[in-house]
Amino acid sequence: MQIQSNVSLRHLNTFGLDAHARYFINIHSVEELTTLLNDPEWKDFPKFILGGGSNILLTKDIEALVIHPEIRGIEIVEENEDSVVLKVGAGEVWHDFVMHCVDNGYGGVENLSLIPGSVGAAPMQNIGAYGVEIKSVIQSVEAVRIGDGEKRVFTNAECEFGYRESIFKKSLKSRYVITGATFRLSKKPLLNAAYGDVQKTLQEMGADVPTIRDISGAIMKIRRSKLPDPAEIGNAGSFFKNPEISVTQFDQLKETFPEVPGYPVDAQTVKVPAGWLIEKAGWKGFREGEIGVHARQALVLVNYGGGTGIQIKTLSEKIQESVADKFGIRLNAEVNFI
Ligand code: EPU
Repeated sequence: MQIQSNVSLRHLNTFGLDAHARYFINIHSVEELTTLLNDPEWKDFPKFILGGGSNILLTKDIEALVIHPEIRGIEIVEENEDSVVLKVGAGEVWHDFVMHCVDNGYGGVENLSLIPGSVGAAPMQNIGAYGVEIKSVIQSVEAVRIGDGEKRVFTNAECEFGYRESIFKKSLKSRYVITGATFRLSKKPLLNAAYGDVQKTLQEMGADVPTIRDISGAIMKIRRSKLPDPAEIGNAGSFFKNPEISVTQFDQLKETFPEVPGYPVDAQTVKVPAGWLIEKAGWKGFREGEIGVHARQALVLVNYGGGTGIQIKTLSEKIQESVADKFGIRLNAEVNFI
């Protein structure tokens, strides 16, 4: 076990923010993790789990032992002619896992192509894009309790998945390290190409009878055209969640802003794209020094290089205030603030 001190996390968060970890360790196996969690020297020391770093805003140094799971491996645990069940280590890169599935003709995660982050972080916030959420393919999540190193397998239902939510962000926040996830994927997949942008891009590609690979390709094309690559410009994807408001409030909003887009959630609720609200509040393409709002997707806040977490937090608060003033809607962050 190699514990380092005062380690820069700049390359371990997609915003590229230069906060430091008081102590830091890469973990390569569940055994290594349980040994660490039961080590008397570290047992009572505060711990912080850092996955792919694609959904956090570091506003300060982390005065804890930062545990970075690098548990690798993709293993077939069950297979028949219709489906395959894969157990995947938390430290696998999410997009590499998606490509593994596409290459092998396993359907179910192709709409989630190019989402930054690790497999272990994905269930945490039930990642989703283009009509698919990870909860539709997760069979179970394997985790280890931070307090005593005890292993536990969470069934899909026990994960309490919601829109960018799970039990690991709510009642069990900071209590477990996710060490892996098990996925059931289909060899005869029903493709999901309903999302307008996806349909249009498939047509442009000439994919009349799309395959899993076509869907993945179309989604990569869309994402590359709208979303900044964190390797070039620091960002954490959507900064806020799309707010859900009542149908009554939506109808009132429509009177003042007839063009406001909205997607029904159920009979009483409508989801409004936060990107639209932020754009209409005048923030799209806004830049102040080294930070700003992306010019092609107003829901994405960016760090051009030397920005700080505090600056981004302050900008996010200004955006929240102006959206609340203009539309009477409160935006909630999707990104976790540290
Ligand atoms: N829009 C604007 N201006 C903008 C951006 C968006 O008016 O600058 C409006 C447009 O009406 C557009 C609509 O918002 O049609 C939806 O935009 P988009 O398809 O880009 O999706 P989104 O709602 O902004 C969500 C997810 C993304 C996911 C996409 C595609 C959330 C918080 N975000 O964004 O997820 O990739 O849908 O499914 O639900 C992420 O979570 O980090 C993420 C990138």
